[in-house]
Amino acid sequence: MNSESSQFADQPTLAKPRSVVFANSKGGVGKSTLALMASLGIATLHPNSRVELIDLDVQKTSSDSLRRFENSRFSVLENEDFFLNSGSPNNGNLINHMGSDFPYSNNQKYIIFDSPAGNEPSRSTFLSHCDAIFVPTSVGDADVFATLHYLNELKTLFSRQKSNIDGPPPPVVLLPNMVDSREEFNELRNHFSSHAVFFGKPLYYAPIFRRAFRSDENDTSVAKLLRQAKPYIDWLTKLIRRADELPQKPKKLFQL
Ligand SMILES: Nc1ncnc2c1ncn2[C@@H]1O[C@H](COP(=O)(O)OP(=O)(O)OP(=O)(O)O)[C@@H](O)[C@H]1O
Ligand SMILES: [Mg+2]
Repeated sequence: MNSESSQFADQPTLAKPRSVVFANSKGGVGKSTLALMASLGIATLHPNSRVELIDLDVQKTSSDSLRRFENSRFSVLENEDFFLNSGSPNNGNLINHMGSDFPYSNNQKYIIFDSPAGNEPSRSTFLSHCDAIFVPTSVGDADVFATLHYLNELKTLFSRQKSNIDGPPPPVVLLPNMVDSREEFNELRNHFSSHAVFFGKPLYYAPIFRRAFRSDENDTSVAKLLRQAKPYIDWLTKLIRRADELPQKPKKLFQL
């Protein structure tokens, strides 16, 4: 057994799908890129998984581009019932879908949500029902301020939802993206130091990510991206698989 599959080998099959979301009200921070890496990463690394990508962005960057990879283990789910007429998420239908079992297979099911910029947590109560919320951020001031604001909005949502959900709210993991240097990474971490959330490993800026949604011959760009970013993808997929093992809400920023 190779090291990729062994990272999942000791895991029991979960009764319900594992659902994670890539979200930030700020645009262009890497939500879709990371959702792509996570979903293709799990589908390729773990032969006993089924991955469902749900794109909540009406622009459908992720779903349009990833449909070509659909097979028995990876699907892109489009369902207009996931949206209200306004384009906001239909929380009731999403929560039902996340809780639904997967009766025809013993394979572990993963649901990866990509969400659009501008989505307010107050209209996205399904967030509280996810197993982890990944919040990509990049290093520019505008991105940092918007992300800080988004974290506060998530906190407000969780305290409003307290009586509606069993157990603690899902872990929130900041994913520093498009980082140029270790110094920049440290600077970014300082901006968030007072927030009781998890802080992920840095994903460095690299031109290959700009070509993530391109369908070139033999999917050379995506294959190259998956190869080049393999250590990061291994880390991220393991985190998704083991989201329930993260320590309870950290008291202060917790570097993973
Ligand atoms: N680590 C990286 N290095 C270089 N470019 C990156 C990196 N991560 C993402 N990008 C690029 O940044 C741009 C924005 O990324 P992406 O579309 O994933 O962001 P998003 O948060 O989904 O945006 P939107 O809010 O518009 O949906 C894309 O062109 C993408 O290729
Ligand atoms: Mg996007």
